[in-house]
Amino acid sequence: CGCCARQAVASGPSRFPQTHFAPSSQQFPSEFLWGTATASYQVEGAWNVDGRGVSIWDTFSHKPGQIPNNDNGDIADDEFHRYKSDIAMLRELGVKAYRFSVSWPRVMPNGTGAVNQKGLDYYKRLVAALHEAGIEPYCTLYHWDLPQVLQDKGGWQNRDTAEHLAAYAAVTSRAMADAGVHRFMTVNELRTFTENGYKTGTHAPGLKLDRKAMAQLNHYAVLGHGLSLAAVRANVPHDALVGLADNPNAATPVINDAEHIEAARIGFREENAQYLTAIMEGRYTDLYLRKLGADAPHFTDAEMKAIGAPVDFVGLNIYQPTYVTPDAASGYKVIPQGPTFPRMLSPWLTIGPECLYWAPTFTAQIWGVKSIYITENGASAEDRLDASGQVMDVDRVMYIRNYLSQLQRAIADGAPVRGYFVWSLMDNYEWNDGYSKRFGLVYVDFATQKRIPKLSARFYRSVVKENRVI
Ligand code: NOJ
Repeated sequence: CGCCARQAVASGPSRFPQTHFAPSSQQFPSEFLWGTATASYQVEGAWNVDGRGVSIWDTFSHKPGQIPNNDNGDIADDEFHRYKSDIAMLRELGVKAYRFSVSWPRVMPNGTGAVNQKGLDYYKRLVAALHEAGIEPYCTLYHWDLPQVLQDKGGWQNRDTAEHLAAYAAVTSRAMADAGVHRFMTVNELRTFTENGYKTGTHAPGLKLDRKAMAQLNHYAVLGHGLSLAAVRANVPHDALVGLADNPNAATPVINDAEHIEAARIGFREENAQYLTAIMEGRYTDLYLRKLGADAPHFTDAEMKAIGAPVDFVGLNIYQPTYVTPDAASGYKVIPQGPTFPRMLSPWLTIGPECLYWAPTFTAQIWGVKSIYITENGASAEDRLDASGQVMDVDRVMYIRNYLSQLQRAIADGAPVRGYFVWSLMDNYEWNDGYSKRFGLVYVDFATQKRIPKLSARFYRSVVKENRVI
């Protein structure tokens, strides 16, 4: 019977060799910074309050039929009015840092020139409340809400936009530094706002440009980062840290042998040639320029110098892997992920936890980066309130736990990762998916603005408290 069989196994001689492994503590470094992230248009609402100007996302989302359910960010999480109670939720979670972004048109309604003091005052109130709660503010200057007036002049197709971003970054970083902010990111996810906004057209402003136009626009986007970096540095104390939050394609070896790891290393550099690689190296790779041929962007040495100026840290937004395999011609080849590859609710969000091992590892190995933050990682899920009014998002817990295990392994192997921010503190406006994709640790009932911490919030609170994967 079953019970005798168990006894036989327990008392009989082991058929397996006695191997002793060191116990895995899954511990993070003692100074590790745990946080959560949001962005202005996705959470603030108050779209026409206190002199805020119009952004490309207001225009885009207000176009009927553009976004499912015609969802827009007019109200979103109403964080503009509810930041105090949202910060209380951060305290509950026990996190030490909050990554937020400043809305450019809230601070400079016309994109350039006159500053809207009331707009800046909102962020001063937010930062003061964070400090009061003992939470370190991490401030992103550009998380995609470009002033519409600048789009009317070509947006990122116009080189002037890069200069205007720097001018806005100067004013905003100075005000934020005065309020005690010490951590700045110039831009968020170069690839997303350029390619979704101007190539596929799924994001604002919804254009579909050709390869040549895209190459030039991408150049202006990294230039925007470079010019802003210098502008922020000139306006904040010397000990403030300035970086960016980018989303490199996370080239990941599909098999962990030497040749696949080498292919992934080449892939990590080349897949991101027009974004993070250009910023890290101050040049475009030969392969990138060769592939583009006559469509290559025009650039000057001075521009490349600005783009390649050293950053204090690299922020990585990592969600899904790009699996690669060796290839004789270009060193690596991307393997497509078929329909049965596991994924979360967003169709693009395939699950490959080991990309959170390789992205920081390659960033440190290839460019010698000494300070890395995971500025975003998280998952969308079909969250529902159960009969007792709770959201038991075991799928999100599964996702975050597995990704954190790989991050811990990367740090144990020497990757200099200083902190990790879950995307997101709470459900919010998920761009072209509107409110149909939820990423929060906290559930938001958008009809009532009620916040309900999910199971994943309880899980994350324990991770933060114990400083290890649990
Ligand atoms: C990246 C973006 O920075 C953020 O705005 C977005 O909501 C999340 N990823 C999830 O798609």
